Amino acid sequence: MTEVVTFDEVGPVGLIRIHNPPVNAISHSVRLGLVDAIAQAERHSGIRALLILSSGDLFSAGADIAEFDQPLGEPSLQQVEFRIEACPIPVVAAIQGLALGGGLELAMACHYRITHKNARLGMPEITLGIIPGAGGTQRLPRLIGARAALGMILSGTPVSALDAKARGLVDEVVEDDLREAALRFSNHLVQEKLGPRPTCKRTVTGDLDDAEIGAALLAHARALKGRTTQNLVIEAIKASRLPFSQGIAIETTLAQKSLVSRESLALRHVFFAERESAKLSRLSSADAKQAQPPAIQRAAVIGAGTMGSGIAIALADAGLDVLIHDNDPAALTRSREIVQSTYASSVKRGRLTQNVAEDRIHRIRSTEARTEVADADLVIEAVFENMELKKDVLSTLDSVLPPERLLATNTSTLSVTELARATSHPERVLGMHFFVPAHASKLLEIVRTDHTSPETLSTAFRVAKLLKKVPVVSRDAFGFIGNRMMLDGYFREAEQLLLEGATPAQVDAALENFGFAMGPQRVSDLGGNDVGTKARVQLFKHENRPGPYFVIADRLTEMGWLGQKTGRGFYRYENGSREAMPDPEVISLIEKLASERGIEQREINDEEIVERCILSLINVGAMVLEEGIAACAGDIDVVWTSGYGFPRHLGGPMFHADTLGLSHVLQRIRLYHKKLGYYWRPAELIERLAAADSTFEEWDESSVSR
Ligand code: CAA
Repeated sequence: MTEVVTFDEVGPVGLIRIHNPPVNAISHSVRLGLVDAIAQAERHSGIRALLILSSGDLFSAGADIAEFDQPLGEPSLQQVEFRIEACPIPVVAAIQGLALGGGLELAMACHYRITHKNARLGMPEITLGIIPGAGGTQRLPRLIGARAALGMILSGTPVSALDAKARGLVDEVVEDDLREAALRFSNHLVQEKLGPRPTCKRTVTGDLDDAEIGAALLAHARALKGRTTQNLVIEAIKASRLPFSQGIAIETTLAQKSLVSRESLALRHVFFAERESAKLSRLSSADAKQAQPPAIQRAAVIGAGTMGSGIAIALADAGLDVLIHDNDPAALTRSREIVQSTYASSVKRGRLTQNVAEDRIHRIRSTEARTEVADADLVIEAVFENMELKKDVLSTLDSVLPPERLLATNTSTLSVTELARATSHPERVLGMHFFVPAHASKLLEIVRTDHTSPETLSTAFRVAKLLKKVPVVSRDAFGFIGNRMMLDGYFREAEQLLLEGATPAQVDAALENFGFAMGPQRVSDLGGNDVGTKARVQLFKHENRPGPYFVIADRLTEMGWLGQKTGRGFYRYENGSREAMPDPEVISLIEKLASERGIEQREINDEEIVERCILSLINVGAMVLEEGIAACAGDIDVVWTSGYGFPRHLGGPMFHADTLGLSHVLQRIRLYHKKLGYYWRPAELIERLAAADSTFEEWDESSVSR
C-alpha cells in the first residue's frame, strides 16, 4: 500500500485514510492506495463496513489537476468508484472541511455519507473549464435530482453541510468529532445489517426541460459569458436519465472533450498562475529565506476617502482591528457612513449576518491623531495622489512607527521609490495597489522598490493572504504592471480608434463581446475621467508620452464631463441612471479633435477594434516583461484576469497571445507599426520568441533557471 492511503481495523470497521497533503488531491498514488485498501478489507472476513476519511483540514480538493496533462495512470477515479460501489460491504465517506470535484465524486460513489457541520461540498470543475468526469454528472442527479444537480455544477460554488443534507446529498451531519461519529455510524450499519446502497442503482428524479435549463443558465449568465463548458454539462446531465453505464460512457466522452478545450487550458493556466504569483520564494532566494513574518492583528489606514474606507473594510473582514486616521473630521464621518452602508448592503444581500456585520463595524475605529497609529502592526497610507502630501504622511509615520513595521502606500501612479526616500527606513516601504472596491476586488498589486527588504515583502504577502487577495509583485515603474498596460496599450488604443472614427458605444460593445466585463469608455465614465487625467499628470512627472495620448478623456475632464458622477462623460446618463446613452455631442467633439490632428475618420469594424486593443495590450505586456517589471507572463495574466476584467476563460493577455501564435501576433503588430507608428513598435521579446517559434509559457518555464 502507498503511504498516501493507510488501512486500519477498528473492530468490524476498516478505516481507510487518505493522507496526501496539502489538499488530499486524488492523485494516481491515492487511487492505487484506495484500490489496495479495498482489496485488503475484502480479504479480511472480520471487516463488515468500510469508512473512508482523510487527514488534515479537508476531505479532498478533487482530482489532481497537475496530472491532467499527463496520460492517465490506472486505476482511474471512475474505476476506483466502480470498485467502491460494487463492494459487498457498506462503504461510508466521512467528510470534513471541503469535498470538491473528484473528492465529492468519490464520496458519492460511497454507499453512505456523513459530514461535519462545517464542511462544504461542491463541484468546482466548471471554473476549470471541465465537466465532472468521474461520475459526478450521473451520481449527483441520482442523489439530489437533475435540476438541483445542474444548478450546483453550473454554479461551481460549494454548498454547506446542512444544505447538502436538506438536498439528500448526505445522510448525517455531526457537530462533534467526525471520526468518532463516523465510526458509530459505521458500527450501526453493521449492527443493523444495513448493506451497500449503490448510488448508480438509483433513478434520477425531476425533469430537466428547456425552461429549467434556460433558468439555470440565466442564473449563472454573468460567470458563463462567452463560455462553452456549460453546454457539455447540460448534455451530460441529460444523459443521467439513461441506464447508468450509458450515462457514464457519455460523461467520459464529454469530459475528455472539455479537458482538451482551449477554455480549460486557459482556466487551468490561470488557476496555477494565481498560485504561483502568491509564492514569495519564486522571486529570489533571499526572499525565500525570509523569517517567519510577525503576527498581524492591528492595522491602520491613513486617509478616510473611498479607497481608505474600502481598505479598512477589507482589513476588518480579515479579522483585524483597524484604526482609520484622517485630519479632516468630516472625512471620518463620511468614512463611517461608507463602512455602515457597505456592511448594511452585505447583510441585505444575505452575504453576512447582522451580528457579523456589527462585529466588523466595531473593529474599525477612527482617529484624528496620526500618532495613535504607532502600535499598528501595519500601516497603509491611502491619502490623495499627491507626492508632497504622501511624502509628508510617510515621513511622520516613519518617525512614530517601530522600524520593523510595514509601511505601505496605496499609490497607483507615484514613484514608490521616491516616496520611500522620504523615510529613514526605505526597506520597510512598498506599494499596495488596491483596486476599487478595495474590499471586494481580488487583486493586490504589490510594488517593490530596489530597497524593499525581503521581510517587508514577506509581510505584504501575508497581508494579501489574510485579505484573501491574489498578490502580484510589480517593480516600481510607470503605472506598475496593470496601469502601464492599460495606459500605453489597451485604453490608449481604444481612444485612437475613436479618433479614427469608431464610436464609444462601438468600441465598448466590441470589447464586451470579446469578453471584457465592461468596455474601456464605460470603465472611464464609471471611475471618473478626471481620475485618469490626474493620474497621467502624476505619471508624466517621471516619464512623458508622445501624443495623441488620451486627448479625448482629458478634454472631457476639462469640460467637467467626468462620467457617471456628473451625468456626462463619453456617454450621457439621465437622472442619476447608470445606463450609458450615446451622446452626439461627444461624437462631434471627437471628430473635431481628430481633424485638429489631421486624422481622417473612416468606418472601422469590430474585428479591427478587438485586434488592435488586444494586440497593443499584449505588446506592452511583453515590454513590461522584458523590462523586468513583471516577473513572468503568468503574473501579467493574473493581473489582467483578476483586476482588469480580461476574460478568465481566455487565460489572460499573454496566454491569449500564445494561443494566437506569436508569429501571427508579431506579423500583425508590424503591420500596425507601419500604419500607426510609435506605440506599435514591436516588443523585442515578441520578436525573439517568435523567431524561436516559442511562447510566453516557455519563456516563463525557462525563467525559473534565469
Ligand atoms: N489538484 C492538485 N493540486 C491542487 C488541487 C487539486 N485539485 N487543489 C489545490 N491544489 C494545490 C495548489 O496548486 C497549491 O499547490 P502549491 O502550494 O504547490 O501552489 C496547494 O494545493 C494549496 O492550494 P491553495 O493555495 O489554493 O490553498 P487554499 O487553502 O487557498 O485553497 C482549495 C484550497 C479551496 C482546495 C483550492 O486549492 C481549490 O479550490 N482547489 C481546486 C479545487 C478544484 O477545482 N477541484 C476540482 C478538481 S477537478 C476534478 O476533481 C475533476 C474530476 O471530476 C475528476
